[in-house]
Amino acid sequence: MKENFHKKFLTGENEIAKVLIPQNRLLQRVSELGAVISQDYEDKDLAVVAILKGSFIFAADLLRDLTVNATIDFMSISSYAGQPGSGVVRITKDLEESVTGRHILLVEDIIDTGLTANYLIRILKERGPASLSLCALLDKSARRLIDLPIAYRGFDIPDVFVVGYGMDFQQKYRNLPYIAVLRA
Ligand code: PRP
Repeated sequence: MKENFHKKFLTGENEIAKVLIPQNRLLQRVSELGAVISQDYEDKDLAVVAILKGSFIFAADLLRDLTVNATIDFMSISSYAGQPGSGVVRITKDLEESVTGRHILLVEDIIDTGLTANYLIRILKERGPASLSLCALLDKSARRLIDLPIAYRGFDIPDVFVVGYGMDFQQKYRNLPYIAVLRA
């Protein structure tokens, strides 16, 4: 059943053009990131903050590769209507725990223009964390509008529309276990 489902995407007439990052490379890289992060946050009070929806699978895998104590909390955001691309977002679900005095690791699936992460970093810093670092699975650096320090980066990818491993096209394809390029 599972094989048939995936074969349908990769062989037939559909919206998926090709696999960009296969599952084994993804998991290998996530585990490398987990090891480095675990080293850097040894003996620190680590608060992982994942931005919904796109980062939920990456965050879940990354968390299982951490060998330090860490909490996980989620934020959900949406662009203000009429201001798409401005980087101004509305928080539709806020964190449940305080991050004041704690070490925040902001987890994103992809950094594109950088506007969303830049805004999130600004509002999270206002909450007085001990530190804040950004971890992004994918960096579409060619599209960057704002210079952002990505402390932990999975892959630099070209300017193509990607889906899978949490990322969507019209809310579909989040369940693909690999990163795929959408047909242009
Ligand atoms: C994606 C991603 C980032 C943002 C990056 O979210 O998760 O939050 O876009 O883009 P930027 O660098 O140009 O600001 P998306 O809007 O696709 O929402 P989703 O995660 O709920 O699918």
